[in-house]
Amino acid sequence: MAKIEKHFQTLFECMADSVKRPNLFEKDENLFWDDPYISKSLLDAHLNPEFDGASRKLATIEKTVNYLTKNSFLKQGDTVLDLGCGPGLYSSRFCQFGINMIGIDLSKRSIEYAQRKAEEQGLKIEYIQGSFFDINYDGMFNRVLQVYGEICTFPNEDRDRLLRIIHKALKKDGLFIFDVSTRELRKREGLKNRWRFFDGGFWHSGKHIVLEQGFDYPEYDTWVDQYTIIRENGEWKRYHMWFHDYSLQTISEVLTNNGFKIAHIWNSLTGEEYKVGGDWIAVIAQKV
Ligand SMILES: C[S@@+](CC[C@H](N)C(=O)[O-])C[C@H]1O[C@@H](n2cnc3c(N)ncnc32)[C@H](O)[C@@H]1O
Repeated sequence: MAKIEKHFQTLFECMADSVKRPNLFEKDENLFWDDPYISKSLLDAHLNPEFDGASRKLATIEKTVNYLTKNSFLKQGDTVLDLGCGPGLYSSRFCQFGINMIGIDLSKRSIEYAQRKAEEQGLKIEYIQGSFFDINYDGMFNRVLQVYGEICTFPNEDRDRLLRIIHKALKKDGLFIFDVSTRELRKREGLKNRWRFFDGGFWHSGKHIVLEQGFDYPEYDTWVDQYTIIRENGEWKRYHMWFHDYSLQTISEVLTNNGFKIAHIWNSLTGEEYKVGGDWIAVIAQKV
């Protein structure tokens, strides 16, 4: 009876607490990308060809690689750094095209998968497990790639720090190729506010409840999806997925302030023509 009361109290506290607005870009204590269990779910999501989850759908990935190589944005013989390369879905394809790839990712599981695949396919790619905030390359790359809005997940100070790292890593006139989400995507997806029960799933192998709560910070063009995971034994953990959305104007200002100029823009890295109102802005920024 005491156990049931304790669980009820935990659930009550979690639910009451989960509607409190977190501080902007509040950091989690829990691992997400490199958590031993969640990273397995994430790898499955990356590798699901029909799912726009951790990576985009396979058809989009292939279209992106074709578009960027056919139009010589990435060329044979280039040396390219793939930041947040995940399981190497882009790096492996660019390498097959004759590009020298270095991929870096936080997730041990994704990097090990990428290394295994490269070995099987006879591809010479350097995959590094670690944080791209810790790299220190100097004038080494023709291109730096960061696909699927990773730059949107950082507060301004970290974003600018990353842009300076990328700037330093690029050769003279080198290109940074990336994409950012816009407020249109957020408006369309809406604020989440629901709970669900799972008997094994993305977050945990056993029974658990997931409380999802979205918060909007329109004055900062920022949004968070907050997940509270409550296990059967009453333990709970909280995760925040932060997204700072951009417009063409705001991303242009950020790039200018960090030593880049916009060379090309689209609505997606597959070459979809830029129109105001798209969910994404794909950018090629040149080091100046
Ligand atoms: C949305 S996924 C995109 C993966 C890949 N770019 C793709 O589109 O297939 C973001 C990736 O960034 C990685 N990541 C997040 N923060 C990182 C960091 N500080 N350093 C290195 N990798 C990071 C994650 O592990 C994850 O694989």
